[in-house]
Amino acid sequence: MAIPFIDLGVQRERIGAKIEANVLKVIKHGAYIMGPEVKTFEANMAAFAGAKHCLSCANGTDAIELILLGLGIGDGDAVFVPAFTFVATAEVVPMTGAEPVFVDIQGDTYNIDPVKLDAAIASVAAEGRLKPAAIIAVDLFGQAADYPALAEVARKHGLPLICDSAQGFGCTIDDRQPLEWCVATATSFYPAKPLGCYGDGGAVVTNDDALMEKMISFRVHGGATPTDVATMNFEHEAKYLNVRVGMNSRLDTIQAAVLIEKLEIFGEEIELRQKVAARYNELLAGKVKSVPFVKDGYVSTWAQYTIEHDNRDGLQAHLRTLGVPSAVYYPIPLHQQPGYSMYTAGGWDLSVSEAKSKTVISLPFSPYLDEATQDQIVAAVTSFNG
Ligand SMILES: Cc1ncc(COP(=O)(O)O)c(C=O)c1O
Repeated sequence: MAIPFIDLGVQRERIGAKIEANVLKVIKHGAYIMGPEVKTFEANMAAFAGAKHCLSCANGTDAIELILLGLGIGDGDAVFVPAFTFVATAEVVPMTGAEPVFVDIQGDTYNIDPVKLDAAIASVAAEGRLKPAAIIAVDLFGQAADYPALAEVARKHGLPLICDSAQGFGCTIDDRQPLEWCVATATSFYPAKPLGCYGDGGAVVTNDDALMEKMISFRVHGGATPTDVATMNFEHEAKYLNVRVGMNSRLDTIQAAVLIEKLEIFGEEIELRQKVAARYNELLAGKVKSVPFVKDGYVSTWAQYTIEHDNRDGLQAHLRTLGVPSAVYYPIPLHQQPGYSMYTAGGWDLSVSEAKSKTVISLPFSPYLDEATQDQIVAAVTSFNG
């Protein structure tokens, strides 16, 4: 049987019947938009994240944009993002009218470098064209960014720290989730994510009441919030009083019904992921350029298991001939992407991002990866002599 890159089948066997029953319930009750399952899932997500609020939405990209809009980020603002991440982290910034400023990553964790971030903020402030307005850190491949250090930098410059945990939702530092250091955490329920649904979906968790109120408004066409209504005279439904230009970004009730069941076993799956990753590390350490490095006290959700090889493309071709799928996240850092190369503010040395984009390669991973399949993958990797 072909090895899947991310195997969703075992999980389906485990909880598929419950998911199907939940979905059927939605089909029958008919509240397809913002139905009761959406509220239940939001409450469960907030509880999982130890957060006061959870706002579900249509995808992880919108989740980040909703945070920026809710914070009032816009024209003339600079938002600091890592150069080595999925494009969505930076993409949402110009959507608000602001400009992304690319910052290099740390070579061991692939996450934004707090020292270079500090320098980039100072440089943009000195340049004076843009106003430093926010930082978005990414929990790349599942490992939390260095939030204690990043929060210091954010405090020093008076900027909100946002967490893009599309890959890392559920990750911890000394048992604490990124939200302990951030104003809000965005995540994605894209099917291949550690907590994925059966389509598109996303969410924001936050403890900030004012931000939550604004995001609720932006999520559905900029409708009036209770605060807006209190200061305005309008005698019809608040949703037909459009106070700001928003979007339509709701999580489908059917997806919430799927996610309710998946969240139930998510904590256990994070533990299973540790075992699979530890076994990969044991079998591959010393045999490739590098295996993933997880800092002391950090627990990754292992959205990806990523190794490095000097002849990465040769290794990928070799794996392909042996029927082992792999993926390259990411072959081009964002500042070198045609659609983003004009964003040169900060002018930073992004050499680590550039180097990593040439050596990283991710191997098949799932919490249910069995040992025989894992052995086959490892044998394929270690049989490469290029
Ligand atoms: C780091 C990161 N940010 C944002 C996103 C966007 O999520 P979505 O695909 O749900 O819009 C993704 C995943 O695709 C991601 O990996």
